[in-house]
Amino acid sequence: MSVPSIKLRDGNVIPQLGFGVFKVDPEATAELVAEALRVGYRHIDTAAIYGNEEGVGRAIAQSGIPREELFITTKLWNDRQTDAAAALDESLQKLGLDYVDLYLIHWPTPEKDTYVEAWKSLIELKKAGKTKSIGVSNFELEHLEKLETHTEETPVVNQVELHPYLQRWRDLDAFRAHGVEIEAWGPLGQGKSDILEAPELADAAAAHGVSPAQVLIRWHLQNGVIVFPKSANKGRIAENFDVFGFELSEAEMAAITDLDRGEEGRGGPHPNEFN
Ligand SMILES: NC(=O)c1ccc[n+]([C@@H]2O[C@H](COP(=O)([O-])OP(=O)(O)OC[C@H]3O[C@@H](n4cnc5c(N)ncnc54)[C@H](OP(=O)(O)O)[C@@H]3O)[C@@H](O)[C@H]2O)c1
Repeated sequence: MSVPSIKLRDGNVIPQLGFGVFKVDPEATAELVAEALRVGYRHIDTAAIYGNEEGVGRAIAQSGIPREELFITTKLWNDRQTDAAAALDESLQKLGLDYVDLYLIHWPTPEKDTYVEAWKSLIELKKAGKTKSIGVSNFELEHLEKLETHTEETPVVNQVELHPYLQRWRDLDAFRAHGVEIEAWGPLGQGKSDILEAPELADAAAAHGVSPAQVLIRWHLQNGVIVFPKSANKGRIAENFDVFGFELSEAEMAAITDLDRGEEGRGGPHPNEFN
């Protein structure tokens, strides 16, 4: 099975489908990431705040997979925005790596007003070879524009809450116009919304002989979005990777896109209110 990849503006290449480990128990992380790597995932999305970078690192070390075949993302937590170099060093040590492929500012936390300082540090960390690419998460356009005003570099990705109930294509297309690729977090609704029970997903699932989650992952992929569903269940880890044997029709894509609820559909905090 071959996972499509996206060429980032800085020339690096990211696999469009990965494995996310938010809320994966640190004790179980090494085994679940090892299973993901065995099934074929090569892109892992973690964060300092998840507390499971060590488990990710153990699975990588034991996999025997050449480092250059892996794409590893971690994120700078909010209380380290003025201390990014040390924070990345700690993450690298836990991961057992010399560099990550992508380092993200996890949230803008606008009240602190330190994300421009953090971004300047990330630019230096990239120059130093500690990360191949740099990006942001949960940024609104105004935050991106502030980075562009104060520095020479634009993030290559913005990782945002994105699923059928919260879509914001006008905003996301504006990011894309700045050369920023979109990564979806909570792509399956995080197990806290009923999105996987939507009849529109069930109809497409029945038509293609797949599960609603597989339909939803295809919807993200066919929208050109980078996606890394999380599962702590080995069967579902494999299921979520098995999404390249079918394609949603334009009508199936549109029926899912029609489920948008705008701001009402947001499951997590609004980036302007999370400090
Ligand atoms: N940047 C940010 O602020 C931010 C915030 C949140 C998440 N993220 C990233 O995005 C990744 C994905 O988001 P997420 O973990 O929050 O939520 P998600 O991937 O949307 O949903 C995970 C939930 O879906 C269930 N699930 C997974 N596969 C399934 C399947 N095939 N059928 C039915 N249910 C299934 C999981 O249950 P089981 O585990 O029991 O299978 C879990 O309850 C995270 O792991 C993390 O890497 C980033």
